[in-house]
Amino acid sequence: MDKEARKKILRKIPYGLYILGLKDGNQLHGMVGSWLSQCSFEPPLLMLGIKKGSYSHSMMEHNPYFTINFPKKDQKKLVESFFRPYEVKDGKFGEVPFRLTKQGIPVLDDTLGYLECKVRQIVTGGDHDVVVAEIIDLELREDVDNLIMKDTSWHYGG
Ligand SMILES: Cc1cc2nc3c(=O)[nH]c(=O)nc-3n(C[C@H](O)[C@H](O)[C@H](O)COP(=O)(O)O)c2cc1C
Repeated sequence: MDKEARKKILRKIPYGLYILGLKDGNQLHGMVGSWLSQCSFEPPLLMLGIKKGSYSHSMMEHNPYFTINFPKKDQKKLVESFFRPYEVKDGKFGEVPFRLTKQGIPVLDDTLGYLECKVRQIVTGGDHDVVVAEIIDLELREDVDNLIMKDTSWHYGG
């Protein structure tokens, strides 16, 4: 197989950019994610590719609830702030304020909206597993365009 061609063709798959909000015990975490797709209308299900052995993966195994926060087109800096380690203190991931859902899951204050999900199944994959999750709650604050991978020079995949 031509690995370079494989990378190029895989990078043509369009991806969004999201911040996942997670909780395990009293630990809260925000993770940049992109491998996300709807996979059922009824019940409303999503599938996500989540790296095996990552902190987020283990948090999802321990607590099935998590949020998917949708950054607006101009919120690249907000996403970037999750690339580096941050302190979780006083309702903030570094400088980024959040609140908690009824399930105690972090939701970023300033995005266009979020989905709250519950893990239904974790399907074993390769270096990432496929997490199938049901949407149990949501808030659409502003019906505006979201930041997507194509708006940046970043890649995850290939
Ligand atoms: C642009 C971008 C997109 C990413 N998309 C995913 C993704 O879809 N799934 C995933 O497991 N990690 C993704 N990552 C990597 C995670 O953000 C994270 O660094 C890694 O999985 C370790 O997460 P942890 O903090 O939970 O240990 C992405 C990183 C970047 C920079």
